[in-house]
Amino acid sequence: MRPVRKAVIPAAGLGTRFLPATKSVPKEMLPIIDRPAIEYVVEEAVGAGLTDILIVTGRTKRAVEEHFDRNIELELALERDGKADLLRAVQYSNTLADVHYVRQREALGLGHAVSVARHHVGDEPFAVLLPDDLMIDDSVLLRAMVAAYEQHGNAVVSLQEMRPEEISSYGCADPIGEPVDGLVELRGIVEKPKREDAPSNLAVSGRYLFPPQIFDALDRIEPGAGGELQLTDAIALLLKEQPVYGAICTFGRYDVGQKIDFLKASVELALDRDDLGPAFATYLKDLVQRRGLA
Ligand code: G1P
Repeated sequence: MRPVRKAVIPAAGLGTRFLPATKSVPKEMLPIIDRPAIEYVVEEAVGAGLTDILIVTGRTKRAVEEHFDRNIELELALERDGKADLLRAVQYSNTLADVHYVRQREALGLGHAVSVARHHVGDEPFAVLLPDDLMIDDSVLLRAMVAAYEQHGNAVVSLQEMRPEEISSYGCADPIGEPVDGLVELRGIVEKPKREDAPSNLAVSGRYLFPPQIFDALDRIEPGAGGELQLTDAIALLLKEQPVYGAICTFGRYDVGQKIDFLKASVELALDRDDLGPAFATYLKDLVQRRGLA
């Protein structure tokens, strides 16, 4: 079996939930502290050994390409001014991985966005990372998913328990029995079911490992939830032909496409930073007290 080396990051969405900030700035470029959100996602892929990254972009996403490219003029200025730390931070994104791009010409849905990766991926297994889902877990989940794929060669989808009222915003899995070592085989999967129709409280949380056969399934799907070509529907087709597993994630996921999770991720990451953590923790304690939040 071929090892997993490629990752696809669909980044062609409009970012309407963050307007007006996203009127001229791609949502993937919104900074979480001082790094654009998508840099954390690329870093997660690299942390799981996936260094060939394909970003699916669309119109208005040029800033994403600029970010992962060199900016020689800026590098020279920082070097001249002796700003070595900033120079390293600027060079980090263009040395992190081998980043490629393909454009999704029309916003026809996540399934369509993944299908345009076909030519680049070829006949290899690959991961999909949705950039709205930020994992602050040192790539633990994605590494486990790669290991599971390399063990049995079948698709693996990340799952997280959600409250019943939240499940209709997600793909929802129908597991067979209980997970063993965080892995469970699936009987079915459905995109954005009504609360009363949901087969479980396990929601798809934005990380996928696929064999190349997913592209044939993507060719066969019809518009589904929201009138869009849904990746979940292709997984449901694949499930009829081969096993698909769920990998349960229990911590570290933030849906940074939502304002509340964007704030939470910023706080969590700030507390982890040596340069900000101690001062920020002191401030937070003081704030909690002043506002009577404890
Ligand atoms: C997409 C997927 C959905 C998944 C979710 C995770 O939905 O279609 O299955 O649960 O991402 O964030 P979207 O958030 O694009 O509506």
